Parts: sequence; C-alpha cells; structure tokens
Amino acid sequence: MSKKIAGEVDDLAGDLAQSVRLGLHSGADGIRLFAAKLVRKYRQSAPDLSQQIDGYLRASPAASPMRRKPSDEARPDVTQPSDDLAVLRIDTAGARQPVLSESIMTGIQQLLAERRQAQKLLSLGLEPMRSAIFVGPPGVGKTMTAKWIARQLDLPLFVLDLTAIMSSYLGRTGNNLRAVLDYAKSIPCVLLLDEIDAIAKRRADVSDIGELKRLVTVILQEIDAWPSTGLLLAATNHAELIDPALWRRFDMTLEFPKPERRQIAETLGTVLASDRQHFERWLPILALLFEGSSFSDIDRTIRQFRKAVTLQTASAPDLVEGLVRRHSAELDRPARHQLAMQLVAHSRLSQHKINELTGVSRDTIRKFQNTEGGHGD
Ligand SMILES: Nc1ncnc2c1ncn2[C@@H]1O[C@H](COP(=O)(O)OP(=O)(O)OP(=O)(O)O)[C@@H](O)[C@H]1O
Ligand SMILES: [Mg+2]
Repeated sequence: MSKKIAGEVDDLAGDLAQSVRLGLHSGADGIRLFAAKLVRKYRQSAPDLSQQIDGYLRASPAASPMRRKPSDEARPDVTQPSDDLAVLRIDTAGARQPVLSESIMTGIQQLLAERRQAQKLLSLGLEPMRSAIFVGPPGVGKTMTAKWIARQLDLPLFVLDLTAIMSSYLGRTGNNLRAVLDYAKSIPCVLLLDEIDAIAKRRADVSDIGELKRLVTVILQEIDAWPSTGLLLAATNHAELIDPALWRRFDMTLEFPKPERRQIAETLGTVLASDRQHFERWLPILALLFEGSSFSDIDRTIRQFRKAVTLQTASAPDLVEGLVRRHSAELDRPARHQLAMQLVAHSRLSQHKINELTGVSRDTIRKFQNTEGGHGD
C-alpha cells in the first residue's frame, strides 16, 4: 500500500472512530457538528460520501438548537431561531487555556481587558472590541480559544456553523440567519461564526447567486451593528477566500500559526501529564518529530501513546521508534539525514537502530557521531 493511501485509510479510520465516539457520548449536537465538518472535508476527495452525509444532515434537523435558559423566560420578546438551524450552545465549563504565541496572547489579553472594562471605555466615548477573526490551519486552537474567551468573560458561547447553514435550503437561510443573529444580539454572549469561508466557497457552486449575496449582506450588516454587549468571533482556515469587505469589518485579526518548538514542548508536558516519566528521555526527539504538526495532531498521538503505555500494549521506546519510522518514511533524503543527525545528538539510540529507523547508512551515522563526540553502539 502506498504511503499516501495508508495515510488516507488512517485518516478515514480516525473519522470513523470519532463518529462512533460522538454518537455514543455527545448526543445529536456533537455528531451534527462533526458531520458538517465531514461534509466539507470530503467534498473534494470523496464527493459521494460528502453528499451522503449532507443528505443525512438535512433529513435530520437539529432539535431545538437554542435551548431556553431559565433567565430567558422573562424575555418573551426574544425570537427563538427556527429549529433547523445549525447553531449550538457550547459548554465552556471545562475550557482549558490554549497554548498561544506571545503575539496572539497579547491580542487576546487586550480583547479581554476591553471587554471587562467596557463601561469605563464607553463612558469615555470609546468602544470596546466587538469582533475578531481567527485565521489558521486546522487544529491550532481557534475554536478552543473562542471557548476559553467565553469562559474568561463568563458569557455563554454559541457556535453557528455556516457550512450547515449554507447547505440548508437557501430560500430560508437569510431569514434563519437573521433570526439567530437577532437572538445572539439580544443577550450578552459570544457568538462564533465557525468556518466563515463557507460563504465564500459556496459562491461558485450555488445557482441562486442573488440569495447568496443577500446572505453576505446580512452578515456584513450584522457585524457593523453588533452591540458592545456581545462579542462576535469568526474562524477560518482559508483567509484567501474571505471577502475583503468582510475582513475590514472585524476589529481584530489574529493569525494562529502551527506550534513552535517551545510550544510543542509545553503541549507535550501538558498532554503527557502523569505519564511524563515514561517519555522523559524521549522528549527532545518527540519535540523534533512534531515540528510542523498541529496541536491537535500532537494531542491525538500522545493520547494514543498514553493509552498504550497504560494498558501495556506497547512500550514507550517502541511507540517513539514507530513514530520515528513513520516520520522518516515521509522525508526526502536530505531531511532523513537531518533527522538521523538529530537522533545522534538527542537520543540514546544506537547507530544500528538509527540506521534501521531512518535508512541512513551506518557509515554516515558514524561520521555524525564522531563530530558530535557521541557514544557508539
Ligand atoms: N493552542 C492550543 N493549545 C493547546 N491545545 C490545542 C491548541 N490548539 C489545538 N489544541 C488541541 O487540539 C484540539 C482541536 O483544536 P481546535 O478545535 O481549537 O482547532 P481549530 O483551530 O479550531 O481547528 P479547525 O480549523 O479544524 O476548526 C483542541 O481541543 C486541543 O486539544
Ligand atoms: Mg475550529
């Protein structure tokens, strides 16, 4: 099996397992969000699968998405959005603080400070930040950060999945969207417009361009009119698809990068938790191997490791060696040399082992080792 196919099978297997887990544990809300994600993810690579899941989603409208809280009872004037809209109230009780680069953290601290002292700013005629857009690849903490912000501000978090909205019957979307936005504006909350690029992406393949334009207009107007009691966040993987008119309207743009060495190390520490001892001597190698990965990739792999070690189905060295082998297989020759060199410098693996894992000849490895003043095998 080629590496690419093996990777795709792994990926599918992961999605399958995740679907089952969500189906069993998270109820309809969780599985709906995930299903909407799958529709997007497989639209290009497996259009039939994508359409099939999309069909299931449409056939099974979300149940009462905005559940009334007791505090809403006294607000009969608030229009409840219609039932088939993909908006979810997200539980932020256990929201963890994400590992963030300094520049992003600075932006978020500023946002939190402005929100917490909104009254003071308003009394001086200054507007606190009302909106921000998060841009970055998958799994780097955009959604996680939105949850954390909501938690910090002690506000409820609603997530509106625009892909799901866009795939619902277009004739109704404009009204539905307005209903959700009106609702969100009427109570102090954080509203996250997830995957906001869905609007832009659909422009090409939707027949009713007029309706789509109206939708974009609705969103643009709503951002402009967002009250300072609420916070509007948006997230996207595809900055290039966003309408410039939309960009301009957000008070702040934050670009989320993949983690750097230091953040990888920090994440490893957190995710390994009490199993750190098993992997202590491998930490530098793990940090190296995870360069270029997203936080969520690291998270997933390390959780698998912890389970294997706990259940004694594999030992820490076996797991790390397996990772080195898989990683190395994806590299070209110079990068494999580089990896072998790093293994010489940072691991206690023997020449023999490094040769076996990376395919770099023992002669070459010996040369590195001599320049490193390392140990033999
Ligand atoms: N900055 C981070 N710090 C710590 N953990 C993170 C971070 N980013 C992601 N993770 C881990 O990965 C998981 C997924 O992250 P999240 O859902 O925030 O990604 P995202 O950027 O919203 O991705 P997508 O574009 O696919 O929606 C989190 O639940 C968390 O376990
Ligand atoms: Mg997300």
